[in-house]
Amino acid sequence: MKSFRVRELKSTDAHALLAFEILNREWFESHIDARAPSFYSLQGVVDHIEGYLSDFAAGTWHPFVIEDSSEIIVGRANLKSINSAQRSAQVGYRIDQGASGQGLATLALRHLIQVAQRRWQLAQLEAYAYRENAGSIKVLGRCGFLPEQPAGVEQAGGECRFVLSLR
Ligand SMILES: CC(C)(COP(=O)(O)OP(=O)(O)OC[C@H]1O[C@@H](n2cnc3c(N)ncnc32)[C@H](O)[C@@H]1OP(=O)(O)O)[C@@H](O)C(=O)NCCC(=O)NCCS
Repeated sequence: MKSFRVRELKSTDAHALLAFEILNREWFESHIDARAPSFYSLQGVVDHIEGYLSDFAAGTWHPFVIEDSSEIIVGRANLKSINSAQRSAQVGYRIDQGASGQGLATLALRHLIQVAQRRWQLAQLEAYAYRENAGSIKVLGRCGFLPEQPAGVEQAGGECRFVLSLR
């Protein structure tokens, strides 16, 4: 079985990240909101990484990638909008279509939960997923997230909110 690891995003990841995002663009856009077209260039990704790392330095974002044993990026996961006062953050993740169904999103989300507890001492995580995104909703449920509103009730924009209490 292939081995994978979750590690922090680095400034030197631009080429690998661009390749990952271009390869999976259509796949991601069928599940989550599309990125701006300007993102899909080396400069676009360099700027994107710079923004994420500066938010990490400011304590509001914690970005990770998942890589395989050949150090190819096969996924991404982020603790987003970390709010130290409210002790909350949002989680997000995306996995290479060719690597899906192997538990990588589950691995990544469990990692985010652990980091949220140990590094950031957070008390609550939230996630948003479209109701049609059965794979993501399964991952959230497996990791203990609960839908906030009764099944079938969507937030504005068509996404459902899921919450995990870490207390
Ligand atoms: C959703 C996504 C993150 C799942 O990643 P993954 O690595 O395949 O997830 P896992 O393997 O950990 O678990 C997925 C589970 O959902 C199941 N699943 C996937 N698609 C499904 C579907 N359409 N219907 C029912 N179950 C589904 C898988 O079989 C698996 O369950 P199992 O382990 O019991 O077999 C990935 O498909 C992805 O990146 N999609 C595009 C971006 C995205 O949607 N991000 C999440 C935004 S909320």
